[in-house]
Amino acid sequence: MSRGGSGGHTRVLTARKRTAQSTRWLERQLNDPYVKRAKAEGYRSRAAYKLTELDERFEVIKGSKRVIDLGIAPGGWAQVIKRRLPKAAVVGIDLLPVDPIDGVTIFQMDFMDDAAPAMLIDALGGAPDLVLSDMAANTVGHPQTDALRTMALVEAALDFACDVLAKGGTFVSKVFAGGADSALVAEMKRNFTSVKHAKPPASRKGSVEWFVVAQGFKGRSVDRER
Ligand SMILES: C[S@@+](CC[C@H](N)C(=O)[O-])C[C@H]1O[C@@H](n2cnc3c(N)ncnc32)[C@H](O)[C@@H]1O
Repeated sequence: MSRGGSGGHTRVLTARKRTAQSTRWLERQLNDPYVKRAKAEGYRSRAAYKLTELDERFEVIKGSKRVIDLGIAPGGWAQVIKRRLPKAAVVGIDLLPVDPIDGVTIFQMDFMDDAAPAMLIDALGGAPDLVLSDMAANTVGHPQTDALRTMALVEAALDFACDVLAKGGTFVSKVFAGGADSALVAEMKRNFTSVKHAKPPASRKGSVEWFVVAQGFKGRSVDRER
């Protein structure tokens, strides 16, 4: 049960069956200005503002014609893309089901499945100029395991981006613990003219989440060490 006046801080009364952790999550959700804004502006997730803020800083969206959205659910980033670029082809993938989004092709499958990359590109109809990944592994509560699982997703997303991006294209990915590890950053620097890390204001301060923005894809002729 929650109590609170309009605009004030909402406190959650601990229900008997709710754990302290889920009560904290609910209280934070109810008082989060980005959650309120997302609701008011019709975005499915507060994550929409992370992409919006990254775009304000790095101009990642402008001019894109084909966009891939890895870890699309529930669809906030895809909504941002479609509002900014109504004519762009957008294809997304997630383990979870996603309610349809006008003009977006969505696959419910594991991006790590060998068949996924070809399906995404077939559906997109050509090389993407923007590959986004907000994928996060389900955490198991063991920090090293969680970091490794998430880094495996970042690595797979980067490999994919380097295989499919059009020359000059952009890769944006969620990374953890202050950034991608040094081997991944080196790989990005070999393949992109600019690689920057950022923590947009909408990314919760307490979270280990960061983003890497790699722009100016050099093309597939670049020597890759993997
Ligand atoms: C933080 S959410 C994405 C939020 C989204 N950007 C938005 O704006 O609504 C991360 C998503 O990554 C998905 N994910 C994690 N691992 C995945 C995988 N191997 N293949 C596909 N999706 C994956 C999760 O199911 C989850 O929905």
